[in-house]
Amino acid sequence: MEKTFLMVKPDAVQRGLIGEIISRFEAKGFQLIGAKLMTVSEELAESHYEEHKERPFFPELVQFITSGPVFAMVWQGEQVIATARLMMGTTNPQEAASGTIRGDYGLIVRKNIIHGSDSVQSAEREIKLFFKEDELVEYSKLI
Ligand code: CMP
Repeated sequence: MEKTFLMVKPDAVQRGLIGEIISRFEAKGFQLIGAKLMTVSEELAESHYEEHKERPFFPELVQFITSGPVFAMVWQGEQVIATARLMMGTTNPQEAASGTIRGDYGLIVRKNIIHGSDSVQSAEREIKLFFKEDELVEYSKLI
């Protein structure tokens, strides 16, 4: 089953949007298999965002993601990586369509509410960075 890593960013945690965001993915039919409220260390932030290391906004990206608690999650389901990104909307919330998470709740590219893995490879890498294997659950088959 395909898995993805999603993270409610500090801005959205502070605004009380965790429940709303979880509800959207549950309603869509995906399964939550791991979740934790945590503070991201500078080291973890730098590893997570290593592909953006050379970007001018890298320091503020690390500063922002470490600025307060995040809600890290692993979700599974059919095509969950691509579908979650559609549900999140474009990176810049000002360009994100209404009805998407960023379109409905975001205003600023740095404070764009949620992160989601963009490929199978990044999902595997990001899940491993944030979760130990025994922190993920398996759903029993319904009887
Ligand atoms: P995310 O999906 O977490 O992956 C990289 C992040 O970089 C992205 O969301 C944005 O929050 C952030 N980002 C992209 N462009 C800029 C920018 N110009 N200034 C600040 N942050 C940015």
